[in-house]
Amino acid sequence: MTISPNANTTIFPRDGDVPHDCRIEPLHQRTILIDGDLEEWAGPVRAVHAAVSLADEQGHLHPYELGSVPDGGTSEAFRALQAAEAAYDNGRGRWPSMLPSERIACVEDFAQRLLEKRGEIVKLIMWEIGKTLADSEKEFDRTIVYIRDTVQALKKLENRSATFEVVDGTIGHIRRVPLGVTLCLGPYNYPLNETFTTLIPALIMGNVVLLKPPTLGVLLYSHMLEAFSKAFPPGVVSTLYGQGATVITPLMQSGRVNVLAFIGSSNVADQLKKAHPKSNRLRAVLGLDAKNAAIVLADADIDHAIKECVSGALSFNGQRCTAIKMILVHRSISDEFVQRLSVAVSQLKRGMPWVPGVVITPLPDSGKCEYLSSCLDDAIDNGAKVMNTGGGVVEGTLFNPAVVYPVAEGMKLYREEQFGPIVPVAPFDDIEGALDYVVTSDFGQQVSIFGREPGQIGQLVDALANQVCRINLNSQCQRGPDSFPFAGRKDSAEGTLSVHDALRAFSIRSMVSAKENQGSTQLIQSIVASNTSRFLRTTFTF
Ligand code: G3H
Repeated sequence: MTISPNANTTIFPRDGDVPHDCRIEPLHQRTILIDGDLEEWAGPVRAVHAAVSLADEQGHLHPYELGSVPDGGTSEAFRALQAAEAAYDNGRGRWPSMLPSERIACVEDFAQRLLEKRGEIVKLIMWEIGKTLADSEKEFDRTIVYIRDTVQALKKLENRSATFEVVDGTIGHIRRVPLGVTLCLGPYNYPLNETFTTLIPALIMGNVVLLKPPTLGVLLYSHMLEAFSKAFPPGVVSTLYGQGATVITPLMQSGRVNVLAFIGSSNVADQLKKAHPKSNRLRAVLGLDAKNAAIVLADADIDHAIKECVSGALSFNGQRCTAIKMILVHRSISDEFVQRLSVAVSQLKRGMPWVPGVVITPLPDSGKCEYLSSCLDDAIDNGAKVMNTGGGVVEGTLFNPAVVYPVAEGMKLYREEQFGPIVPVAPFDDIEGALDYVVTSDFGQQVSIFGREPGQIGQLVDALANQVCRINLNSQCQRGPDSFPFAGRKDSAEGTLSVHDALRAFSIRSMVSAKENQGSTQLIQSIVASNTSRFLRTTFTF
């Protein structure tokens, strides 16, 4: 059932209802960053709308125009690429040649400038993608911590490299070095944090970056352009604004991109990789689709499982790649589980993202409510039911969360990543049935297991460890802590992105070697002593 955006509805605020601290003025960005210059943009622009609509006096909803951004074209994209190539200069540019300690200083300077913009950035995350104020703040703060942790991880990595190895009469000095021009594209659900989990390691390892902010969650980047231009040498970070087909595909087709860092759909990743004419030269670091399942065993603590599943499936309206997107429940407890789950979901607070305690908020993606409704219709047509009162009711851009049961093979919700507030539940009769769901999935990011019996859980762990990259025992799926490996199999990811692993993903080992004889050791010792090489050195980074 849809409540039309023009009907009387109370959940969306009137202009005057928005709390003073949360109000926002439209932001019309008219600059792009290329080669260290903040260029005036006089070309076409794209309007940016908030996830939150405003109601007029009659209660009719109106999309709120949050601002606009440059709608750049292919020529700016290639100018940015040229600037990046000049800054990299085949690995001999100022940035890739800097000592890690010098790059760390630039990144720390940038983080300091970013911190000064915390308030504006948090507010833009909240308005543009509808993330709760608390979660928007968490996203910002987690990103700052990620930057600091990355700096520490680089120091460790560097200091472990400040040495020589001798194996079978060969001396080796091994370090990690950058890969070159890196294209960074982040997702809308974590427009700051996930983008930065590739941007920061790419930069700090000495790569040069072409940064395309997400289509939704784009305006917050306008507060960073100056910080980028002041903290980094020209060309090290340039921005790309515009449609992917206009700016990204031609760059990939040019064959001049060395690293593709992309968080988004596996279909788009596939197309971008295939567009590159020299696939062997391209390093891809990808965070893609997932359909993480929760397996609730017959002896699970139902209260606890429900608490974790509700949070795991519906935090930020289910718009997390790590969200639980399918719950498989042992048939002996499935009716009770679904009934209690439905009550818990119905009790979630809905409303505007600044309201304390709110969980369900408006969705940013136009057309998303229609897609989710079509998933519900399809499930209902094929024999499932919406189990909770009000589940699936659409109010403007807000989709009331729906528990759907019993979901089965053949329904869209069984296999598709809904990436929204729908909780599909399916019963299973024996462990093999639950395992089969994971084995036959196109995705392989994480699972959650809820239960108590060590023998059964141990068996499941062994079978699932070769299917997914993280098995959560009696807890929801999640990425953090960021020092743990974040990865996926099948169509879920390429590469691993813990703080430490990301430094590896955006670099390659290079080494100096020589025969272990007097001439070599003398030569190496005098290079090190005279400080004539930035690569061949034993200095520590503190
Ligand atoms: O959307 C994917 C995010 O990396 C998930 O992170 O589990 O901390 O929400 P999270």
